[in-house]
Amino acid sequence: MTRKTVLMYRALPEAQKARIRQAHELIEADPRQPGQREVFFAALPKVHGLIGSSMRIEPSLLDQAPKLQVISSISAGVDVYPHDALQARGIILCHTPGVLTETVADLLFGMMLATSRRIVEMDALVRSGRWLGNIGPALFGHDVHGKTLGIVGYGRIGQALARRAALGFGMPVLYFRRTPADSGLPEGLAQAVPLHELLHRSDFVVLVLPLTEQTRGLMDADAFARMKPGAILINGARGPIVQEQALLDALDHGHLRAAGLDVYAIEPLPLDSPLRGHPRVLTLPHMGSATHETRDAMAEMAVSNLLQVLRGQPPLAAWPPLAGG
Ligand code: DGY
Repeated sequence: MTRKTVLMYRALPEAQKARIRQAHELIEADPRQPGQREVFFAALPKVHGLIGSSMRIEPSLLDQAPKLQVISSISAGVDVYPHDALQARGIILCHTPGVLTETVADLLFGMMLATSRRIVEMDALVRSGRWLGNIGPALFGHDVHGKTLGIVGYGRIGQALARRAALGFGMPVLYFRRTPADSGLPEGLAQAVPLHELLHRSDFVVLVLPLTEQTRGLMDADAFARMKPGAILINGARGPIVQEQALLDALDHGHLRAAGLDVYAIEPLPLDSPLRGHPRVLTLPHMGSATHETRDAMAEMAVSNLLQVLRGQPPLAAWPPLAGG
């Protein structure tokens, strides 16, 4: 097989780089790092495969890569790619769903516990030497077990979260998704409802839906007003699904109890963002899938996807899924 050229724009484990090098030339350049922009753009005219993540790819970049056959994203989410332009050029986009499901669900559950039981805040209390006696009601949290969980976007991760909640914590689960799906749970443990009903009834609203033109700004002032007083919002999906100012207003007016965020409109979160340091907002650095095990599995799957396409074979996961895939 002829050796092709692959451009890697996010670090991969050595073992995965070796798999690429065995069959192809590998150029490593992340244009977001100082001094690597020139290398990245100079390589584009000869590359057949791109592998990386978390970087917006514009159609103008594709114009500079006339030989490109595949972009292999080391992510499940595919919102940073120009889908129409890729399809028009016959470039296959691959991603890594499935291998991160349980890991992301673990973190989302952790965020529910952390916000409701005020875990980070209480840790800060002890660290700063302000724990001077039995804590009183002003510092109490709220139970998680038995509360109602509303999951917006009921794909693999939503269902993994539902299992934890319903089977482990005795929580009634409500879910909303556009296309009907099996609840994945024994009869009666999870109920599909319209979004407005989910917002109205849930103690926790967890977002795990993809960012699309339809979901951008979904959580606006109106949506927050529909939420139950004292409810908690968790966003493990994509930042732009939430209108951040509307969220801050809902928190500051006391309508929402807390928010747990792993994603933001702008990442990394700007230093002057009012979300940073807000007493009732848990801010995590987009780390849903960030465990050694899962990031290794994602890297392995992304490299397999890339190699398969360059070999003329269907990848493990393409977006949109290939016909018959
Ligand atoms: C994903 O896989 O989509 C994660 O959010 C990392 O981008």
